[in-house]
Amino acid sequence: MILTGRSRLAGVLGWPVAHSRSPRLHGYWLDQHAIDGAYVPLPTAPEDLVDCVRALPRLGFMGANVTVPHKQGVLAACDRLDDHARRLGAVNTLVFDGPTIEGRNTDGVGFLNNLYQRAPNWGPAAGPAVVLGAGGAARAVVIALADAGVPEIRLANRTRTKADTLAAQLDGPVTVIDWDEKTAALEGANLLVNTTSLGMIGHGALEIDLTPLPPHALVNDIVYQPLETDLLARARARGNPVVDGIGMLLHQAVPGFAAWFGVRPEVTETLRDFVLQD
Ligand code: ATR
Repeated sequence: MILTGRSRLAGVLGWPVAHSRSPRLHGYWLDQHAIDGAYVPLPTAPEDLVDCVRALPRLGFMGANVTVPHKQGVLAACDRLDDHARRLGAVNTLVFDGPTIEGRNTDGVGFLNNLYQRAPNWGPAAGPAVVLGAGGAARAVVIALADAGVPEIRLANRTRTKADTLAAQLDGPVTVIDWDEKTAALEGANLLVNTTSLGMIGHGALEIDLTPLPPHALVNDIVYQPLETDLLARARARGNPVVDGIGMLLHQAVPGFAAWFGVRPEVTETLRDFVLQD
């Protein structure tokens, strides 16, 4: 790709950022749509974050993604926030409107759109959801599920106080469950989501007996390294529909690309395969 003076620029702010799959993902869409633009890694030390973000619109950038560890720190550089970023207290997408920096959060919409695409028979209103974890990802997932109309969300986290805090902050149908009671909480559930790091390469295993989970219940792991986690393999073996975690990463990127480059891109099988190759 040869850039010109008119090329549109975006990138991803992180520290470190070398592991990020976002340049590959956005690069695929830029090529596919023959857009005169570029999406670049922007390694940014925490102490430089606010200065670097403020410089981007002045350098002609259209916006940026924000990843670990900057999703909260970047709030200090934002002039305004969308509703999702405000409620999550975290930003993953910046859109520049002249010098004005808007912080958005697309993690919740990415999570839901992945389920809608990969499990068209699943609907939020059909029954309770069990969510494991109470970190940043869990927060996005729980808010998205509550907004989508899930009638009951059973939230279990190793450190129960974090789940209590999350439930208390949300005006939603959230019941906190003891970590040791997570198996019993599967009774009658329509969805199980793992938002913890358990099951990820290099982390511990997620130990949960799936016996009480109804056979129609959808199981989603937001871990995508490996793509087929032990949880998904065990759920699949007993006949439950399963959705892996890479799609959430792909879908959360769609609104940013659309805002910066003016084309709403598609999440396809070819894109999934391309982003997973490395
Ligand atoms: P993210 O922003 O990706 O959600 P995070 O905020 O670090 O990441 O959250 C990690 C989640 O994985 C938390 O729910 C954490 O539980 P604690 O709140 O008790 O720390 C969970 N987690 C990590 N390691 C775990 C383990 N060994 N057993 C159970 N839960 C674990």
